[in-house]
Amino acid sequence: DLGRPSASRSPTASQKRGSENTFPCAAVEVKNEPVLGFTPGSAERNELQKALDGLKGKTEEIPCVVGDEHVWTEDVRYQLSPFNHSHKVAKFCYADEALINRAIMASVAARKEWDLTPVQDRAQVLFKAADLLSGPKRAEVLAKTMIGQGKTVVQAEIDAAAELIDFFRFNAKHAVELEDQQPLDADGSTNTMLYRGLEGFVAAVSPFNFTAIGGNLAGTPALMGNVVLWKPSDAAVSASYVVYRALRASGLPPNVIQFLPADGPVFGDAVTASEHLAGVNFTGSFPTFKRLWKQVAQNVDSYRTFPRLAGECGGKNFHFVHKSAHVESVVKGTVRSAFEYGGQKCSACSRMYVPDSLWPLIRDQLLDIHRQLKVGDSFARIKKWLDRAKTSSTLKVVAGGNYDDSKGYFVEPTIIETTDPRDAIMSEEIFGPVLAVYVYPENDYKEVLQLIDSTSPFALTGAVFALDK
Ligand SMILES: *[C@@H]1O[C@H](CO)[C@@H](O)[C@H](O)[C@H]1NC(C)=O
Ligand SMILES: *[C@@H]1O[C@H](CO)[C@@H](O)[C@H](O)[C@H]1NC(C)=O
Ligand SMILES: *[C@@H]1O[C@H](CO)[C@@H](O)[C@H](O)[C@H]1NC(C)=O
Repeated sequence: DLGRPSASRSPTASQKRGSENTFPCAAVEVKNEPVLGFTPGSAERNELQKALDGLKGKTEEIPCVVGDEHVWTEDVRYQLSPFNHSHKVAKFCYADEALINRAIMASVAARKEWDLTPVQDRAQVLFKAADLLSGPKRAEVLAKTMIGQGKTVVQAEIDAAAELIDFFRFNAKHAVELEDQQPLDADGSTNTMLYRGLEGFVAAVSPFNFTAIGGNLAGTPALMGNVVLWKPSDAAVSASYVVYRALRASGLPPNVIQFLPADGPVFGDAVTASEHLAGVNFTGSFPTFKRLWKQVAQNVDSYRTFPRLAGECGGKNFHFVHKSAHVESVVKGTVRSAFEYGGQKCSACSRMYVPDSLWPLIRDQLLDIHRQLKVGDSFARIKKWLDRAKTSSTLKVVAGGNYDDSKGYFVEPTIIETTDPRDAIMSEEIFGPVLAVYVYPENDYKEVLQLIDSTSPFALTGAVFALDK
C-alpha cells in the first residue's frame, strides 16, 4: 500500500476490525499517523527547513553496526544526492564476508533471549520508535529521505513519516493481538498457542525508493522475535540509519538488528551460505530475488531449517480505461500515478489502454497537465527507453522524451503512444516517469482485458476506469 496519495490513506478492513473488537488484554488503540501540511509558517515546515539547511554540503559518516560496535571496512562508498551528484550525502562502507559472518554469529547468539522477551515488550520498542519518528526525529528522517532519495516533501512525508510510523504501530498492535487468539480449551485440557521467531536469522534486503520499507522488512521480523541482518540500499543509507538508530534508542537490544550496508552479491552469497539462514525478506529487482532463491535451493541440504523467502519484485501497473470512464479521474489519476516520484513506485502507472473514442480528449487533458509539470530527478535504464521510442516505427513520443544527467539524474515525464500492444514498452518494467499508451477500438475492450493480462509477467497493481459496472 505504499505510495498511496495521502487522501486515500485509511486503515484497512482488518485494521478497522482490530480496533473495533475488544481483546481482553491487548486494547492498544492506534490510529493512522496524520499527514502534515507543511504550509508556510507551520512548525513542521520550520523544523524541516532547519534540518534541510543543516544537511547542505554535509557528508555524514555511517558505519556498519554489529552489536554495539561501529565497524569500518576498507571498502568505502558514498551515497550521492540524486539531484546533485556533487553532494556526497553519506560516507559508508561495505560489510565484507568476514563481517557478515561475525554479524550472523552474534545475532544467532542473541536470538534466544530476544525470542523469549514477551511480545508486549518487543512491541514497546516499535511503539517508542514510532513516537520518536512522529515527533523529535520526523524532520531528520524527512530531510534525509528528500536529499538522499530525491523526494518532494509530500512524497517523503507519506513514506518516511506516515507509512513507516503506521507500519510500526499497526504491526506492533497486531503482534500483541495475535497472542490473544488462542485455541479453545476442551474438557480437562488447556490448549495454548505460542508464536516463536524462526530458528536462525532473517536477512532483510530493502530498496532505495521507500524509507518505510527498510523499517518494515527489518523491523517486522524483529517484532516477531527474530534476529535480523539488515542490508539497506546504497541509495538510502542515510535515512535508513535514522530508522535503525530510532529503534536502538527505543530499547532494541544490540545484535537483534545488525546494520550492514554491503555489495548485493557479497551479502547474498554470505547469508545464503550460512546454515543459520531462516528467512529472507526482500524488496528489489526480479533477477536479484531469483538469484537468492537459486542459492537457497542449491544450499538446501546445509540449512538447519527451511528458509522462508518473501519478496516483492517487478511491476507493470496498468490503467485500463473503459468508454464509460470519467475522463477527469482518468487524467488526474494517471498523471499522479505515472509521474509522482519519477515513476519509481510499485503503483506507478506504466501502461495504459484507452478507447479510441476517448483518446483525443484524454490526450489533450494529459498534455495540458504535462506542460505544468516541473522536471524532478530520477536515469541510464530510462534513457534507453526514450532513445528507443525516438527511433521505433511503432512508438511515438507524445510528450516529454528528454533527459539530462550533467548535474543530477533528470528525466522529463514522457508519454509514448504505441500501435503495437505487444511492444516491449508495454511488458517490461521501466521504473521511471514513462507512460506508454495503446489506443484500442472502444468496443474491443474484452479482448483488451485479455491483452493486459497476457502481455507482461508483471502487474503488481492496476486500475480500471469505468462508470459502467
Ligand atoms: C550541490 O552540492 C555541492 C556540494 O555539496 C554544493 O556546493 C552545491 O551548492 C550544490 N548545488 C545545488 C544546486 O544545490
Ligand atoms: C517479511 O516482512 C514482512 C513485512 O513486510 C513480514 O510480514 C514477514 O513476516 C517477513 N517475513 C519474514 C520471513 O521475516
Ligand atoms: C520499490 O522498488 C522496488 C524495486 O526496487 C519495487 O519492487 C517495489 O515495488 C517498490 N516499492 C514501492 C512501495 O513502490
